[in-house]
Amino acid sequence: MSLAQRRILLGVSGGIAAYKSCELVRRLRDLGAEVRVVMTEGATHFVSATTFQALSGQPVRMSLWDAEAEAAMGHIELARWAERILIAPASADLIARLAHGFANDLLTTVCLASAAPVYLAPAMNQQMWAHPAVQANIDTLRQRGVHLLGPASGDQACGDIGSGRMLEPMELREAMVASFGNLVLRGLKVVVSAGPTYEDIDPVRFIGNRSSGRMGFAVAEAAAQAGAEVTLVAGPVSLSTPPGVRRRVDVRSAAQMRDAVVDAAAQADIYIAAAAVGDYRPAEVADYKLKKQAGAPLELRLSENPDILATLAAQTVRPFLVGFAAETHDVERYARDKLQRKGLDMIAANQVGGGLGFEAADNALTLYWADGVADLSRASKTDLAHQLVAKVAERYRTVRG
Ligand code: C5P
Repeated sequence: MSLAQRRILLGVSGGIAAYKSCELVRRLRDLGAEVRVVMTEGATHFVSATTFQALSGQPVRMSLWDAEAEAAMGHIELARWAERILIAPASADLIARLAHGFANDLLTTVCLASAAPVYLAPAMNQQMWAHPAVQANIDTLRQRGVHLLGPASGDQACGDIGSGRMLEPMELREAMVASFGNLVLRGLKVVVSAGPTYEDIDPVRFIGNRSSGRMGFAVAEAAAQAGAEVTLVAGPVSLSTPPGVRRRVDVRSAAQMRDAVVDAAAQADIYIAAAAVGDYRPAEVADYKLKKQAGAPLELRLSENPDILATLAAQTVRPFLVGFAAETHDVERYARDKLQRKGLDMIAANQVGGGLGFEAADNALTLYWADGVADLSRASKTDLAHQLVAKVAERYRTVRG
């Protein structure tokens, strides 16, 4: 069991179970996790920030309005930093505020600003826990994807017996370990490219394509969850950076994407090219808006773009290269041809159209490598990304040891 380099934001709200969260910080750190603690105002009535600071080895954050802390690691950075948000104890008040999208203190604001999965360990009197208002809020949060840890039943600090006890620190730690799953890419640096490229024609027009970037972003997230240090090179997309991704470089054109990828790939073990790179760009970019010439056709001369994968494949020291091939027909033939021609280690091929591929939530992939093939049947892009990452890790370890 390990949580090495895992970044866990521990939210502590006001409840007597907060004393157990001190122990929790110790136990998370024993497994190598980096822990940052955010306390609500209520929590400070039970445990002091100094205790958490000493145990986590990091400054404890309590207020949105702390100018010094915001200048160092502001609430948005904190939200991005976290791979998991664990709130223990989660009081009835905190649960209500989360359910209704409040951002009236630092902890609730960070929860809204973060894409990291949220885990709640409720702790309150059994009568409060059973109250329909609390249960309705819990249902809302559950439906929104928040993970519930406990509560357990038993003796309560108030003398009651019933459901509402916070889970023990070791149980919460186990839940965190389980949430990270199998770290098949631990210790590896992975570069993922995603999205389309835009090639400018003039200051207001461009040539683009219909890639949403969702497959590539899902791959970046899955690679990060598998323990990799991920750099995501993104074309123009409207997607937020997945939790756990270390660095994001936004680019627009194929040439910019090539520069960013070549730069990041110099240190990388694996490059997964999920971007839909434009094959051509206008030979000249007009620096003024082109005017319509009534009745006359407009001719655009296009130049070929650099092939990013082929550029990397030509290097003597190069990362393990995974390409994508989106095809409308003859998928295997074109994919195998691309695998060979571009000198790749693996290619992920998909049929586009029919509700799959570009702009769709679902996809289906077939992976080809020199002497093998694996079918990943139709699933959400998130699920497929996890399967792809598992296969890439397996092949990487076979080929590179
Ligand atoms: O040849 P085609 O564009 O279909 O190949 C797709 C694969 O090649 C994708 O992995 C894509 O990211 C990559 N590619 C590239 N540079 C280009 C064009 C495509 O790396 N100029």
